[in-house]
Amino acid sequence: MSDGTPSRAAAARAVAAVLGHGQTLERALEAGERGQTALGGSERAHARALAFGALRYGHRLKHVLQQLLGRPWEQHVPQLQAILLVGLYQLEYSSTPPHAAVNTTVEAARALGQGRAAGLVNACLRRYQRERGDLLARADGTLAGRYSHPEWLVEILIRERGEATEGILAANNEHPPLTLRANARRIAAGALADRLEAAGHALKLVPYAPRAVTLEVPLDVRELAEFRDGLCSVQDASAQLAVPLLDVAPGIQVLDACAAPGGKTCHLLEEVPGLLKLVALDVDAARAERIHENLARLGLEATIRVGDALDPAAFGDERFDRILVDAPCSGTGVIRRHPDIKWLRRPSDLPSLAARQAALIAALFPRLLPGGRLLYATCSILRAEGSGVIERFLSQTPEAVDVTESASLKLAGLPTPPVPGEPGIWLLPGIAGNDGFYYACLERRVR
Ligand SMILES: C[S@@+](CC[C@H](N)C(=O)[O-])C[C@H]1O[C@@H](n2cnc3c(N)ncnc32)[C@H](O)[C@@H]1O
Repeated sequence: MSDGTPSRAAAARAVAAVLGHGQTLERALEAGERGQTALGGSERAHARALAFGALRYGHRLKHVLQQLLGRPWEQHVPQLQAILLVGLYQLEYSSTPPHAAVNTTVEAARALGQGRAAGLVNACLRRYQRERGDLLARADGTLAGRYSHPEWLVEILIRERGEATEGILAANNEHPPLTLRANARRIAAGALADRLEAAGHALKLVPYAPRAVTLEVPLDVRELAEFRDGLCSVQDASAQLAVPLLDVAPGIQVLDACAAPGGKTCHLLEEVPGLLKLVALDVDAARAERIHENLARLGLEATIRVGDALDPAAFGDERFDRILVDAPCSGTGVIRRHPDIKWLRRPSDLPSLAARQAALIAALFPRLLPGGRLLYATCSILRAEGSGVIERFLSQTPEAVDVTESASLKLAGLPTPPVPGEPGIWLLPGIAGNDGFYYACLERRVR
């Protein structure tokens, strides 16, 4: 193999696992890294960068490739699709010299058992170099092509977000920053920022998330002594709004019903010592293990349970003052962190996700004590999973009142104030450098 081929091959293998087997990119990369022990640290990092980039810009590149390939895109095997995306990504978006990008990608095709297609790969990449301007102009004829998103998602965003759509699509392609949450029990955000700045990190504070410190150049957080020593955790600024919105005080009982890996559980405990009880529940035992790890690193304690929030037996007679439902969702608010979402989600996923979200709220709301609050949170930016779910629940539940607007008053500098007539609040990508999120705070009326 020529120099640089192993990282191209590793990237293409991971991308093929996403395209062909529906695996998440993280899982595919980790599986590849376990199998490819020969890859050095910088080759692994290169493979990751190529795989993320190929999927981030892949829908645009697919429009180009559809012009170059004789047969429709769908008729090619995922390995070949992946090799072509990785090759074209390098030519268009990386600083790799074109001849090296072409040669190593052709070699990678052989390494992936696509030797018979090596000529086709070579021809496509070379023709791209010659006809780049025209090919891209045609690919960029639609928003989906220009901003490299699946068409179905662009259609929904145009319908729901109108003129804000382009800003959202552009933000979804940005490289995400690394935002930390200072552990309020141990350090103030300003002091954490001072320590990191003294160590040479460029950073900024976030006006509406007082514990947040954003590093402008992301790194592997395990390199930071402050992380290893439990002074901080990784959490985007928009996810840090759950705890202030939940309005928690000492002496009350809280349920975090979809808790793993424990980001918001830990934030709750950091902010409010002296809770009477905090139950952190998750249906996934392996993910729940990560709650233990995070609590231990941060020096915190909670009651962790593995169980299904939809199962009445998970709680018996227990009632809570506050319930957080950070529901599983399409992840369309965190595409910049997980560009594989552009490939893995289908419009047909939305009804079943919305049904699961609605079922979680319906099962958990009755577990509130009168006057208690349920905070529904999701990192989706689609109405079907946000205000759509909440509107339906409110219309069926006279006891439930949307109090998001008053709850959000304490979030000074919030980038997106509540929309009149729509329950909850949206934090759309691109507004203030944040991930996309939706929150709705529902109170159980005292009868
Ligand atoms: C968005 S993640 C939660 C992230 C977490 N709150 C945090 O801040 O780190 C959603 C979680 O819900 C869990 N989940 C999905 N369905 C569930 C159910 N029926 N009961 C309990 N947990 C569930 C998933 O296993 C997943 O860990």
